[in-house]
Amino acid sequence: MGVRLGQHAQPGERVLDVGCGRGASLFPAAERVGPEGFVHGIDLAPGMVREASRDIQRRGVSNARVTIGDAESLDFPDASFDAVQSGLVLFFVPDMPQAAAEIARVLRPGGRLALATFAEDREEDKALQATLRNLLTPYLPPPPATSTNQPTPSERLRTVASLHDLLKDFTTIECTDHLQEILFPTPEHYWSWLWSAGMRGMMESIPESTLPEAHHTFTRGLHSLTTPNGTLTYTMPLRFTTAIRP
Ligand SMILES: C[S@@+](CC[C@H](N)C(=O)[O-])C[C@H]1O[C@@H](n2cnc3c(N)ncnc32)[C@H](O)[C@@H]1O
Repeated sequence: MGVRLGQHAQPGERVLDVGCGRGASLFPAAERVGPEGFVHGIDLAPGMVREASRDIQRRGVSNARVTIGDAESLDFPDASFDAVQSGLVLFFVPDMPQAAAEIARVLRPGGRLALATFAEDREEDKALQATLRNLLTPYLPPPPATSTNQPTPSERLRTVASLHDLLKDFTTIECTDHLQEILFPTPEHYWSWLWSAGMRGMMESIPESTLPEAHHTFTRGLHSLTTPNGTLTYTMPLRFTTAIRP
């Protein structure tokens, strides 16, 4: 996903990566822009910025930098970038129109935006998610009584219409869908993955006393979903969107 997003960048360009995380799209973009260009990554999470900065140093990348920043309030002058990229971030931002306005502001006229978001789940994706959820639900605390009807981040920006609506100040909006398959060699790998991304918050809510049982039940339950050699395939429907700032 990151490689595809980063390929949008052109040699010599100044690129902003909004919500760069550990740099999945920042590093491919830095390679694309080359020594004449520059990539600046921002992320709200200090830990992400710390680790991505360490990776930049470790890899000896001299044309990229990462700082703490908020998509809703970009700390850059108007028209200071040729391109902005943002991979699986905007649906986390409480005020998405404000983030889109900020992105438009820091792009030069004619500058390009490249986004990755989730596309609509297919019936088979929903069925797999329900199975996985049902295996974990007995171990999760009940949802808070005050839970609102607000959509969760993974429910936001899931249609082409919602992207067009968000990017109403941009032109030439083009969306391409892609089914990203993630292959887990064993159910244990899938369990570890749940702790490494956005689901971690949910996993941490499992009480420590029942965690070993949850682990055992979940990984055993996954065996019915694996191929004979034990592999589990999880498919993520992704949507890549490009747009131009007039
Ligand atoms: C799913 S990760 C994607 C990271 C990276 N773009 C990638 O493709 O690997 C989402 C990232 O968005 C960051 N994030 C969430 N809200 C943000 C905001 N308002 N401003 C900047 N970054 C934000 C999170 O800290 C996290 O690193």
